[in-house]
Amino acid sequence: MDELLQSIEQKVRPLIGSGKVADYIPALAKVNPNQFGIAIYSNNGELYHTGQADVEFSIQSISKVFSLTLAMKHYGEDMWQRVGREPSGNPFNSLVQLEYEAGIPRNPFINAGALVVSDMNQSRFATPHYAMREYLRRLSGNENLTSDKVVANSEYEFRARNASMAYLMKAFGNFHNDVEEVLHNYFDNCAMRMNCIDLAKAFSFLANKGYCQHSGEQIISAREAKQVNGLLATSGLYDEAGNFAYRVGLPGKSGVGGGIVAIVPNRFSVCVWSPELNTSGNSLAGIAALEALSDSIGWSVF
Ligand code: DON
Repeated sequence: MDELLQSIEQKVRPLIGSGKVADYIPALAKVNPNQFGIAIYSNNGELYHTGQADVEFSIQSISKVFSLTLAMKHYGEDMWQRVGREPSGNPFNSLVQLEYEAGIPRNPFINAGALVVSDMNQSRFATPHYAMREYLRRLSGNENLTSDKVVANSEYEFRARNASMAYLMKAFGNFHNDVEEVLHNYFDNCAMRMNCIDLAKAFSFLANKGYCQHSGEQIISAREAKQVNGLLATSGLYDEAGNFAYRVGLPGKSGVGGGIVAIVPNRFSVCVWSPELNTSGNSLAGIAALEALSDSIGWSVF
């Protein structure tokens, strides 16, 4: 496995230079683009990694999966009254569907959907970001995880689009808490810093029927894990979900920090990171690496 990962790194590194780091969050634009890491964690607890798999990055939208599983535990099926389960076919930060569809976002992974889920968590936890941080520390087994205040503040300063979505949903009655407070918690969650190894471990419960082996906890039920993987396969990469299914064939979630997590159900969780993005806001070298991995091991769920 180590040799395979090294050959994949060699194959995709030349792609660095053809994408663009996220710059709509100014603090993220400062990251060195010339970085690549990948980590694989098996349901038996074996860990494989190469490149800069131990370098922390901003997890950004990858945090939306954790917000969802946290909310699922408290709201169960009721949460689907407030957020849909269909792909949007639009960019992650699009506003257009939201008015046509009466303030109910298409799915929990576009920004509007993640904001509704954050609003649900705001109603349940006294300090929602600290609940999330504690959850991530348990899932990854890394007690030192923290959020990057500089990134979170930069996101808050340039929050116009996210704030517009949240206020529009409030106008439709689908947002119950103070918008600015929820935005702060949402940005603090997006600004969590984790490396590929932390994320591969933290996602292992989705590859393992909801069970997190290293913390010994059933995080969600096996049925819920199947459901989350289904949503990741259809909406985890926004308007590139079809292309990702075609090239990689696994449930996955990306973030504008350049991370992508993919799940091989019943076997492995994988995290790849390279900061340069394609036009859909997904890591360019990251998708290529996951495609090479799935082609060489025949991992697709399809
Ligand atoms: O709300 C935002 O725009 C960011 N905090 C997260 C966006 C993101 O990661 C989209 N994913 N590719």
